[in-house]
Amino acid sequence: MTKQDNQFKKVISHAKEYGYIVQSSEIYDGLGAVYDYLQNGVELKNNIREYWWKSMVQLHENIVGIDSAIFMHPTTWKASGHIDAFNDPLIDNKDSKKRYRADVLVEDYAEKLLKKAQKEIDKAKKRFGESFDEEQFKTTNPRVVKYLTQRKKALQKIAQYLEENNLEAVKTLIEELEIACPVSGSKNWTDVKQFNLMFGTKIGASADSALDLYLRPETAQGIFVNFLNVQKSSRMKIPFGIAQTGKAFRNEIVARQFIFRMREFEQMEMQFFVRPGEQIKWYKTWKERRLAWHLSLGLGQENYRFHKHEKLAHYADAAADIEFNFPFGFKELEGIHSRTDFDLSSHESHSGKKLQYFDPELNKSYVPYVVETSIGLDRMFLAVFSTSLQEETLENGSTRTVLRLPAILAPVKVAILPLVKKDGLPEIAHKIMADLKISFNAIYDEKDAVGRRYRRQDAVGTPFCITIDHQTVEDKTVTLRYRDSMQQKRLKIQEIKALITDEVSMSNWLKKIKL
Ligand code: GAP
Repeated sequence: MTKQDNQFKKVISHAKEYGYIVQSSEIYDGLGAVYDYLQNGVELKNNIREYWWKSMVQLHENIVGIDSAIFMHPTTWKASGHIDAFNDPLIDNKDSKKRYRADVLVEDYAEKLLKKAQKEIDKAKKRFGESFDEEQFKTTNPRVVKYLTQRKKALQKIAQYLEENNLEAVKTLIEELEIACPVSGSKNWTDVKQFNLMFGTKIGASADSALDLYLRPETAQGIFVNFLNVQKSSRMKIPFGIAQTGKAFRNEIVARQFIFRMREFEQMEMQFFVRPGEQIKWYKTWKERRLAWHLSLGLGQENYRFHKHEKLAHYADAAADIEFNFPFGFKELEGIHSRTDFDLSSHESHSGKKLQYFDPELNKSYVPYVVETSIGLDRMFLAVFSTSLQEETLENGSTRTVLRLPAILAPVKVAILPLVKKDGLPEIAHKIMADLKISFNAIYDEKDAVGRRYRRQDAVGTPFCITIDHQTVEDKTVTLRYRDSMQQKRLKIQEIKALITDEVSMSNWLKKIKL
């Protein structure tokens, strides 16, 4: 197991042990790629959503929010292109009866070649020490060159065949590469078929009158179909945006990597309506704004990078992902897409209703262009949680597990800990708790030695602990302990609330976002 795999395993087990995330319906052996958020998970998730919402709707005078239904008229998905083109290429292994995404089989094959090349590089690094020139080695060592060339060719071919929708060639490629089923080891494959990712359901009581529906695969379409309702009732002038958070559903075939790729997940999307011709200017602005939002959380600038889409979807004229350094490497966290007037125009023609804006400055009507920002809330959760989870060696040689969550996102802001369960200390602690819990999430804990209680709060991610001891009875002061530095300081009981409020106030963090 690689170091990365090991770290990722720790993330998953920590999430379960400390009440963040478990698999859905675990007592029935779980449901693939569906997860439940527990008592701490739901708080962290709510806080991330709130921070996003405030940065969009509160900080921008020209953005409003909505909450549209998950069920939408089926024609919505015809207009959006999801019925015709929201597909994955699937292939079955005839012996194991297991189903795979054909492109992922090839990607996994390519990943194995990369690992083989890396192994050779690591071996040589050890052998040559300081004088090792990695770039030169990669281009001259015959084995490494072979692995990397094979990898590149396989990835180029699969991209080309999928682009051409040449499913026969995809199957031939899998056979040529001698890719075997990971379960049965057999190379006995069916043809490749396109499979739509939307979940279907029905609305209505009787079988003949029931209407076929889909669970929405993105929240964005609820914004498009309400574009004029919002514009008219809010009297917004272009440019303006509509934000929405909510569940989306995709029947993902390759459902792995924990909450990175789920079948039921949550999106936070914003569609920004602009004048035709001004979309690229706004696309660039939104790339900057969204990165600034991420950086304000302090997870480390080095963990983010942009990935520009070279091949664009038919409706887009520019697109990029913000990728994050997850425990399994850099992967898409958020998409920023310039979607032209595709969605609104398509809804106009499918519904027969005008979806145009009268621009008083230009004195004409037009279908606005749209720049979209779209981030998965669960993916953002994984980014925050996995980066925050750290194992530290302390000065005395012992280790501690600490979840260094940004204070505004932490589920519990402060733990109140009486040193002992007697001498009037619990009574004072309960009074402090009663006062603080009105302002933020606080917990009371009197079990075990105080050192162990600190460790438990470190692992849960609680940024502050307050300890009540015998000195408190005499002079009404307590010890405040910081999770990250483990430093302690003495302060008066009446000073606690102001100090913590200052540290966990979203307003203070929102100020840091450079718009
Ligand atoms: N409206 C545009 C849209 O839906 P997308 O790239 O398909 O674009 C946007 O999805 C974001 O939603 C992704 O960047 C990712 O964060 C999240 N997302 C997509 N599929 C997901 C899944 N199966 N599980 C978790 N998050 C997902």
